[in-house]
Amino acid sequence: MHVDLFLVPGPVNEERLNGKTLVLVDVLRASTTVCRSLTSGAKAVIPVERLDEAAELRAKLGPQDTILGGERRGIKIDNFDLGNSPFEYTEERVGSKTVILTTSNGTRGYTKANPTNLIITCGLVNVSRVARKVAETGKDLAILCAGEEGDFSIEDTLCGGMLIHKLKEVEKIELKLNDAASLALLLYRSNSDTLKRTIANGEHGRYLAEIGFASDVEAASDVDSIPVLPILKDRRIVLEES
Ligand code: MLT
Repeated sequence: MHVDLFLVPGPVNEERLNGKTLVLVDVLRASTTVCRSLTSGAKAVIPVERLDEAAELRAKLGPQDTILGGERRGIKIDNFDLGNSPFEYTEERVGSKTVILTTSNGTRGYTKANPTNLIITCGLVNVSRVARKVAETGKDLAILCAGEEGDFSIEDTLCGGMLIHKLKEVEKIELKLNDAASLALLLYRSNSDTLKRTIANGEHGRYLAEIGFASDVEAASDVDSIPVLPILKDRRIVLEES
């Protein structure tokens, strides 16, 4: 299996993604919030890029059936129901509703991804489940790290590295890695015993703690704590039917 990892978002030649499984990673915090929402009984999460799109979609789908969630600079957007803290996405708030989510980096990848691919949401909270699915499909893999404002982020790269490690060591797949994937694997291997600390000490981990979300950082670093498989179907993220 060929594995290409992209450390930062950016224009990726479509041909490099054709026919591959795409895994979108935003550990802090969009992937974690998506996993939490779906496990709390949300019907779907619809990722959107812009605030006006989110408001239009809500008007179209009906305010009583939808929850508007998201952040800019980590803070809840004015007039939105929820921010981007996974803890907010409880059964009481999102059960049986459709969550419309817009975040600074994490939700962007979905709107750009080619919908003919299998597109999976991955965080540390569901990394082993994702590895199993990637192994089952057997297709080449592209891991797209959301990063932070166009920059590399340590937590997404670690998560990509852990996914690669699981594919190799648990799923026993022979892999051919691009250099960024090799780097992510090395990073993971040298931090596997100190994941939580490394993430908390990273730029976005520190920033979230400063604005009062240290517990989100801790929860998002909790490996396999929400073992679900969110996939994109008709532009909506839903749980894969088992
Ligand atoms: C993002 O999409 O950039 C993040 O999810 C930001 C955050 O921590 O809320």
